[in-house]
Amino acid sequence: MEKVSVVRGDITRERTDAIVNAANCSLLGGGGVDGAIHRAAGPRLLEECRTLGGCRTGEAKITRGYDLAAKYVIHTPGPIWRGGNGGEDALLRSCYLSCLRLASENGCRSVAFPSISTGVYHFPLDRAARIAITAIREYLADHSEIDEVRMVCFDPRTEEAYRAALDAAEGK
Ligand code: AR6
Repeated sequence: MEKVSVVRGDITRERTDAIVNAANCSLLGGGGVDGAIHRAAGPRLLEECRTLGGCRTGEAKITRGYDLAAKYVIHTPGPIWRGGNGGEDALLRSCYLSCLRLASENGCRSVAFPSISTGVYHFPLDRAARIAITAIREYLADHSEIDEVRMVCFDPRTEEAYRAALDAAEGK
């Protein structure tokens, strides 16, 4: 399934219809990829986020992309890793599916994701990569309206984990 790809890079530079933000429940910005997206999109992004009333973990909300090349930003708070018995796997899967559903509803044909929850939220990387790739592939199998999903990895270790998960899912 060539619709899913793994690339190394800065997600704020992606020209996909939507980019996903690994946010927190306030949706009012933070560090990591969230900070980078808010800086690149400009202050109007925070203004729109203030109107959204936050977001629950595993759910997602969409805004415009403002100064980004992407038309939309889809914000999703991933789970904080607390050892794995707090429903973290299901919540992470739900992040990817919620974002893809919003992308479909808003006519997005291409979506770029960062590695949700594997930064300051400390979700184990290989486990997160398997969950992400599985959820994305399952969604795309039933939703031909989305042409392309890119996993945009900021560092080599993250890229390697998602590439391995994708190869395994594709039987390579
Ligand atoms: N492009 C792509 N990936 C990036 C970029 C970028 N420009 N910058 C960082 N990453 P994190 P989380 C990678 O910590 O674990 C924020 O403060 C990073 O290397 O951004 O979901 C929020 O407000 C890592 O691989 O997100 C929340 O409070 C991945 O993005 C909290 O962090 C995710 O790391 C969310 O934590």
